[in-house]
Amino acid sequence: MNESDYRLVEVGPDRAEEYWGIVQWSFGAPSSPAEVERRRRSLDWSRTVGCETCAGTGPGRLVAVSTSWRFDLPVPGGRTPAAGLTWVGVHPERRRQGLLRALIARHLADCARRGEPVSVLTAAEAPIYPRFGYGQAIDRVELTIPSRAGLISLPGSERIAVELVDAEAERWSDQVESIHQQAGQGPWARPGWVPCVTSGMVEEHFEDLPEHRGQAETLKLALAYREGRPSGYAFFQRTPKWVHGRAVGAAQINELVALDPLSAHALWERMLDLDLVEQVTSPLHLPVDDPILDWLVDPRCAQPRWGDAVWLRLVDLPAAWAARRLSAPVDLVLEVTDQLIEANAGRWRLVGGPDRTSLTRTDQAPDLSLDIKELGRLYLGGGSVGALAQAGLITASDRSDPAALARLDAACHHWLAPGLTRLF
Ligand SMILES: CC(C)(COP(=O)(O)OP(=O)(O)OC[C@H]1O[C@@H](n2cnc3c(N)ncnc32)[C@H](O)[C@@H]1OP(=O)(O)O)[C@@H](O)C(=O)NCCC(=O)NCCS
Repeated sequence: MNESDYRLVEVGPDRAEEYWGIVQWSFGAPSSPAEVERRRRSLDWSRTVGCETCAGTGPGRLVAVSTSWRFDLPVPGGRTPAAGLTWVGVHPERRRQGLLRALIARHLADCARRGEPVSVLTAAEAPIYPRFGYGQAIDRVELTIPSRAGLISLPGSERIAVELVDAEAERWSDQVESIHQQAGQGPWARPGWVPCVTSGMVEEHFEDLPEHRGQAETLKLALAYREGRPSGYAFFQRTPKWVHGRAVGAAQINELVALDPLSAHALWERMLDLDLVEQVTSPLHLPVDDPILDWLVDPRCAQPRWGDAVWLRLVDLPAAWAARRLSAPVDLVLEVTDQLIEANAGRWRLVGGPDRTSLTRTDQAPDLSLDIKELGRLYLGGGSVGALAQAGLITASDRSDPAALARLDAACHHWLAPGLTRLF
């Protein structure tokens, strides 16, 4: 970024319209005054920045923007403060002049200042963020399932009651949020399960703007009850379609969360048995070990598509690893490269196990060498050390002996795949 042309500024709610104008320009998405007002209420303006043109001494024109949320992010065996970077956009007329690079540098400095050792994001395009040290920490799978596809039976799931209602935020948001929160806590919580941290985020979650809806119906909810108590929910929308008098409608599930396997099974069965619907698309960010893959009698019929869900950047290495527990005891020296944050680069001794983890400076010879983005890939318990080694992205000092690789894999791997239910 040429500093005589642009300057970094904090952006307040008084500039919500200008901010959203840049988002619209960069994403080419429709918007409305109502959406701007909602964003004015929902964004965390104390964490919102932009690049504006330098035009004399007065305020310039905003041409690039970014904001973030502060999350208490579940990680294997614990939680860590984290920044969720979002709504990043550069006006197309100003692209490839280093404005994103400047916003990221500012974001990483803000994370360090605020004591947030980790930054996470969902990317519009996969190639954008690795250059800034982000690793693909959560993988996802997406399914398109023929309606009435067979599921193996799960005895007891027929006793789960499922109610279908309009997704009215005033009426249902407490119930939905309570289930989402419960699902994100305790030993069954998936690392990466991002909570809704503000009422604005909850409001966004029930968002059903006509300009984004297309031909689909208004947003609906399926609510599951186990022994009379709320035990799960699914947001969904059907789009009717008729071809030569035959119904070939589609249903999109936006999110499906349940507190136990029976409730999840009952919700999936209900979603796969909607009249006039020919195919059902799963939530975009289904975890790669989601139970639906084991329940489908014919998983091939669902055309699984693998992809990236969340990218994670380790900002403060020792603080991030102190927050996380390891699945097996380990004592290894890692040589880490980091192009952007010098304090992370160099040799670190990783010691720990299920009760305690520490990463401390050392002069000892390294067992393994890797870049910060590969450590980010492993941080939430996903990824595979073996796969990264086979790809030449983690190297062992003793190339003839993979024991150090196997020890790091056993330590980092979490028994449940990391997962994201909600876009942020
Ligand atoms: C993606 C976007 C933010 C990039 O902004 P930008 O100001 O043009 O980026 P910069 O000029 O700072 O580029 C920094 C580096 O990233 C690379 N880069 C930028 N956008 C990229 C993309 N979409 N794919 C691959 N590389 C990209 C640049 O080539 C540059 O690489 P270099 O440092 O090796 O030369 C901007 O094009 C945009 O707003 N796109 C549409 C909305 C969007 O995708 N937002 C991101 C949401 S996650």
